Amino acid sequence: MDCRCILVTGGAGFIGCNFVRFLLETEPALEVVNLDVLTYAGNLASLGECLNSPRHHFVRGSITDAEQVRALLQQHRVDGVINFAAESHVDRSITGPLVFVETNVKGTLTLLAEARAANVRRFLQVSTDEVYGSLGATGSFTEQTPLSPNSPYSASKAGADHLVHAFHHTYGMDTIITRCSNNYGPYQFPEKLIPLMIRNARQDKPLPVYGDGMNVRDWLYVSDHCAAIWAAFRRGAAGEVYNIGGNNEKPNLEIVRLILRHLGKPESLITYVKDRPGHDRRYAIDSGKARRELGWQPAVTFEQGIASTIEWYVSNQAWLDQVTSGEYQAYYAKMYGNRDRAN
Ligand code: NAD
Ligand code: DAU
Repeated sequence: MDCRCILVTGGAGFIGCNFVRFLLETEPALEVVNLDVLTYAGNLASLGECLNSPRHHFVRGSITDAEQVRALLQQHRVDGVINFAAESHVDRSITGPLVFVETNVKGTLTLLAEARAANVRRFLQVSTDEVYGSLGATGSFTEQTPLSPNSPYSASKAGADHLVHAFHHTYGMDTIITRCSNNYGPYQFPEKLIPLMIRNARQDKPLPVYGDGMNVRDWLYVSDHCAAIWAAFRRGAAGEVYNIGGNNEKPNLEIVRLILRHLGKPESLITYVKDRPGHDRRYAIDSGKARRELGWQPAVTFEQGIASTIEWYVSNQAWLDQVTSGEYQAYYAKMYGNRDRAN
């Protein structure tokens, strides 16, 4: 599908800002409208030089605001919507689930309704493998795996997926859902495993590992996720779901040890802390359908990706300082109490 103007939502967040960069670099004729309300996880510093591009229009606002979404769709004559905007952190959903329903469910519904009313040609929902629940020691999630979300975060994402499906089934709207595994790379807010561990290790602070550290995630470098989303948007079939994954299953402890080795820090920094309630044990994605039907495959190996991610965080202390001032400190004080173990 060829488009002249895309509305990207949540484009000041981790994956969204990487995706905006990707579009501006790879699609020289495309206009990108970027709607982001700038929560703690969204930061204009993550958009850097994109803010100077005449083809990038940043708008501060919420996907739950129907009037603002309607005006943007009309004003820019948007012909495709790609929805990244979300509350994305599982731990926060456990302590405060309401905003997850507000943004992830109501926000997606608002966007769908306005996109439909504006005759937007295609709507892509950026979803997650967490909607499938947790795996045992073997197997992987396919697009046929029943949804069985376990956390308030994944339940809200599954709710959004059901709404996207319903808009396709009921109204014949052209929709795509992508479900991706754990991303890592530049501009990820340091509440997530990899940037948090890099940041703490560099400051010789304890690295808080949940439970026994043997929960497994399937890691994908963020630029590979961006390429997959764009391939799904352009070449996917209406109404379809595409799983996206890196075939990089790793126990958390292995990642934490790798980061310590890269940074020349001692394993004594590892601190086992109370497990995340309802912690999903293992995720693994079968991305065979995306590889076959979209002609997509990851380009970055885990070894390359983790080395360049660590290097990026080491070289971008100013960005880290900017995004962690204020709210971050309060969040960790709440998570870890007076012991403040992560800081
Ligand atoms: P993030 O938390 O880094 O960024 C989310 C962005 O959405 C922020 O810029 C925030 O300001 C914005 N936002 C929040 N509420 C909004 C609202 N009401 N209106 C407009 N903007 C709003 O998240 P991320 O890690 O970049 O994830 C992006 C999307 O990808 C999410 O939908 C997430 O569920 C999905 N996803 C993430 C991963 C991952 O590993 N990070 C993997 C699979 C899928
Ligand atoms: O699978 C895709 C999902 O990946 C996305 O949908 C989510 O938006 C994204 O946040 C991510 O969810 P996870 O819960 O898997 O990511 P997180 O980085 O929070 O945790 C990764 C693993 O590391 C998980 O098993 C919990 C563990 N962990 C995490 C933190 C923050 C720790 O052991 N210690 C920590 O301090």
